[in-house]
Amino acid sequence: MATLFFMLLMSIFSTFIHAIPTSAGQKVTKRSVTVDLPRNPGYAPNGRLQYSRALKKWGVPMDDELDDATNSFRGGGETGDVNAESIMGDREYLSRVGFGTPFQYLNVDLDTGSADVWVYSSETKTKTRREDIFELEKSSTAELVNGSEWRITYGDSSYAWGHVYHDSIDIGGIPLHNAVVQSAVDVSQSLSSDKDIDGIFGLAYDLHSQVRPKQPTVLSTLKSHLDKPVFTADLRYQSDEGAYTFGYIDHHRHIGEINYTPLLPNSTFWEFNFTGLHVVGHNYWYISQWRVIADTGTTLMLLSPDIVNMYYDAVPNATSDRSFGGLWHYPCNTTLPDFEIGFANGWVARVPGRYMNYTTYDDLPGRCMGGLQPFMSEEFGILGDIFLKAVYAVFDIGGGKVGFADKDLGL
Ligand SMILES: *[C@@H]1O[C@H](CO)[C@@H](O)[C@H](O)[C@H]1NC(C)=O
Ligand SMILES: *[C@@H]1O[C@H](CO)[C@@H](O)[C@H](O)[C@H]1NC(C)=O
Ligand SMILES: *[C@@H]1O[C@H](CO)[C@@H](O)[C@H](O)[C@H]1NC(C)=O
Ligand SMILES: *[C@@H]1O[C@H](CO)[C@@H](O)[C@H](O)[C@H]1NC(C)=O
Ligand SMILES: *[C@@H]1O[C@H](CO)[C@@H](O)[C@H](O)[C@H]1NC(C)=O
Ligand SMILES: *[C@@H]1O[C@H](CO)[C@@H](O)[C@H](O)[C@H]1NC(C)=O
Repeated sequence: MATLFFMLLMSIFSTFIHAIPTSAGQKVTKRSVTVDLPRNPGYAPNGRLQYSRALKKWGVPMDDELDDATNSFRGGGETGDVNAESIMGDREYLSRVGFGTPFQYLNVDLDTGSADVWVYSSETKTKTRREDIFELEKSSTAELVNGSEWRITYGDSSYAWGHVYHDSIDIGGIPLHNAVVQSAVDVSQSLSSDKDIDGIFGLAYDLHSQVRPKQPTVLSTLKSHLDKPVFTADLRYQSDEGAYTFGYIDHHRHIGEINYTPLLPNSTFWEFNFTGLHVVGHNYWYISQWRVIADTGTTLMLLSPDIVNMYYDAVPNATSDRSFGGLWHYPCNTTLPDFEIGFANGWVARVPGRYMNYTTYDDLPGRCMGGLQPFMSEEFGILGDIFLKAVYAVFDIGGGKVGFADKDLGL
């Protein structure tokens, strides 16, 4: 896991945040808030690009054939594919977060799979214009951390680096002062050409950021300001009803109990084991232990190839196409089966087949790409948005555990 940076595309649709005071007292300093997730009403996202980016984020090598295939469908220049993506439905979820004094609001990706909080700023050397950047000189509280910098690199040519500031952050009405804000100085073209995103807001459980010398993460700063040391993610399938909450669990957003699973020992990510797998329609369950990371910043669900093969065995005419980067696809008129994941306490999460159907291909008419794809890591899988959309997710910082519950999916 050499590199832990990932950038996803997201909506520029207007977003807003509102504070929901939950404490009765007037003088509370701790807060709990909701950060709304806007709808991202786009069309076919570029699923292959999502896939190759996820592999890079998690430092999982593509084998040569996969790599060639991924490169070949980039069509000669990374930027071409990236630029073609524009704004896509359910590819990413974007939240509005304030930086500086007075607060300047930017569209950032709340990402449980990384620990850095970085933004495009007035220092950023990039030719790609974006709607909003953090204008450092307009913040009366921005304070350069002398001699400190951050740098994130991929195995390939993608990178970002910059300076480190202490400044104020407003996340859903919770003001954090002297938080560590990473300002991008240089961002590789392959990343910066994605102009809809203004920054990444890392929320990994206990991971150091890439700031050197080390600084506390924003999540560790935020934790002490929350009513309860939790945040929750309610990502929604093609809807503007989604939200993150900080400092409380919104019991209106889930059905039944929240089922907690402890994080694995020494987890830096939101990493845990699940214990069962089931393709709905089959009359057997697979029982074992699978290590996974809950990652709001990855679009797809990425699991070991044997699991993925097992799922697509149940999909008529599904193929895993080497010349298509090893991605699974099937006729678009195929109804995919629901996919179930079981936990040690007996609770089962069900991902509807409709959510498992991710996107179309421009160059393979009539074929659709699944939201579950293979991950060559021996060690862990990624439960990205395809999974998270199907559940109410609780990230319990204080308790070192994740909780999942059913919610009304409106199906
Ligand atoms: C940062 O360090 C440099 C060299 O060590 C020094 O010249 C400069 O004044 C320092 N800036 C601040 C804001 O402390
Ligand atoms: C967790 O970290 C401690 C201290 O570094 C170490 O002794 C222990 O073996 C680690 N546990 C696991 C499961 O890695
Ligand atoms: C989690 O699963 C892995 C296998 O994927 C296993 O080696 C490990 O012991 C499990 N840990 C716990 C705490 O269940
Ligand atoms: C699967 O392919 C066969 C022939 O290759 C075709 O007859 C059949 O209709 C296809 N099924 C679906 C669901 O597309
Ligand atoms: C999907 O379309 C193909 C080709 O048009 C057809 O052969 C197949 O029967 C259809 N499958 C379903 C499940 O409708
Ligand atoms: C799968 O998704 C694609 C677009 O994302 C859509 O065109 C297709 O109709 C969907 N298939 C089913 C069976 O819903």
